[in-house]
Amino acid sequence: MKILVSRLMKARSSFSRVCSLSVSINGRLLSTSSDNVDRPSKVEEADTKDFKPPPTDKLLVLGGNGFVGSHVCREALSLGLLVSSLSRSGRSSVHDSWADSIVWHQGDLLSPDSIKHAMDGVTSVISCVGGFGSNSYMYKINGSANINAIKVAREQGVKRFVYISAADFGLVNYVLHGYYDGKRSTESELMKSFPHGVVSLRPGFIHGTRKVGNINLPLSIIGAPLEMILQYTKLLTQIPLIGPLFIPPVNVSAVARVAVRAAIDPAFPPGIVDVYSIRQHSQQKSS
Ligand SMILES: NC(=O)c1ccc[n+]([C@@H]2O[C@H](COP(=O)([O-])OP(=O)(O)OC[C@H]3O[C@@H](n4cnc5c(N)ncnc54)[C@H](OP(=O)(O)O)[C@@H]3O)[C@@H](O)[C@H]2O)c1
Repeated sequence: MKILVSRLMKARSSFSRVCSLSVSINGRLLSTSSDNVDRPSKVEEADTKDFKPPPTDKLLVLGGNGFVGSHVCREALSLGLLVSSLSRSGRSSVHDSWADSIVWHQGDLLSPDSIKHAMDGVTSVISCVGGFGSNSYMYKINGSANINAIKVAREQGVKRFVYISAADFGLVNYVLHGYYDGKRSTESELMKSFPHGVVSLRPGFIHGTRKVGNINLPLSIIGAPLEMILQYTKLLTQIPLIGPLFIPPVNVSAVARVAVRAAIDPAFPPGIVDVYSIRQHSQQKSS
């Protein structure tokens, strides 16, 4: 018990340190502080529905062969964008016909030199790279790897950077501290490097059909009904420590739609987009 309490306190204080960066833009405070979970960018500020990307805009999806990344690639193609993807295995398991329209690069975010070529001439980047494992691995893949990508993107003149982060999950944060510390470190680096062109999406559980090898896992069987029910229980998320477990899941198509809009539309407000705002933005009609 003593060990757990001291772990909670240590994690809490390092988490606060990591998340305390704030940037002021035109009088509007952007902050990666976890206090801001309840103060996401306002949906009504984002009048993005009539935006058409210039046909020369190039979008790079980091992790475009993963669960979220492949939906992001498809969404971007549907808007007529030039889309490329970078991951360690390149195209690997994606055999659908839409994938023929993507330029597939191989590279490892942990080796910055291996990703420079893919950023050449790119307008916007969406990072869908992240994952689970030991706490040190989770910090590396959710934090260090993405921080490398942000630095390369800034050097190469990329204009906008969208990061698929994750919602705070109360007690879970303390157990998976490498994951959450990594996410928040990346958000802090983004605020520093792209103060005017950065959006971090913070979904909870993302549902949809996830490919694992040759098997299609229909995560929406559980995710969709939970999303329906939990969208009405926002107040419960305020309960200390366990409240965040009531954060509703969100469909992968909604996440992809908002990520692409945020990446291509300069009018999309910079900052953190929580799960409720992801749902709202995704329901805005395109022209
Ligand atoms: N799924 C969820 O419910 C959920 C919820 C909240 C937040 N998120 C966040 O959303 C993001 C996407 O999640 P996901 O479920 O789509 O993950 P995923 O299916 O595991 O995809 C991860 C992608 O990252 C690539 N990748 C991993 N390490 C890399 C490295 N060092 N360099 C380059 N590419 C690398 C992988 O491809 P290779 O293996 O070929 O490199 C893969 O394309 C993650 O950041 C995750 O934390 C997910």
